[in-house]
Amino acid sequence: METALYSQGVEEEIVEAWHIKDSEEEEDHRLPKHCEPKEFVSLHKLEDLGIRTWRVGSDYENEEQVKQIRESRGYSHSCTLDLHPERLPNFEQILKRIFVEHLHLDDEISYCIQGSGYHDVRDENDRWIRIAVKEGVMILLPAGIYHRLALDLNNYLKILIFNAGPAVDITTYERPGDDLLARKLYLETLHKKGC
Ligand code: NI
Repeated sequence: METALYSQGVEEEIVEAWHIKDSEEEEDHRLPKHCEPKEFVSLHKLEDLGIRTWRVGSDYENEEQVKQIRESRGYSHSCTLDLHPERLPNFEQILKRIFVEHLHLDDEISYCIQGSGYHDVRDENDRWIRIAVKEGVMILLPAGIYHRLALDLNNYLKILIFNAGPAVDITTYERPGDDLLARKLYLETLHKKGC
């Protein structure tokens, strides 16, 4: 067993994150894809990249933290992604689609209702970081960050993606999106932080 990654008490169990090796396209994306030796990534590093995580209760509709985040950002709508092999007729096809590297013009906030999976994000050196989420975890990926979504070996993930309807643009822009303002602003923010 791996030892615990974080030493900051409460933050310890929200998510685990690690660098992954760039592997062949045909490899199963549900594998953890650890480097050899394993290279874990701290929560502070994720925060430097603009990523935020919260652990919220399973009664998310009434969860105070969720309400606060939604209200402060005006996120009134949500859509559910239920990635279950028996409930989705084109399951494998959809897994391929969500694994395509992309960015958005606004922050993407999602909440894991059931199951588990991986949000992969690019760091400042364009290396992939794999962030494992499970039931009860809410995660914010900042506008302009390149990312993708994958299942893990449990093969089931149900997430809720928040948005504010027409006011927030959650359109997917496949890489390359380097000319998009959101991408430029994101890189500027990283630069200012000294990343
Ligand atoms: Ni996305």
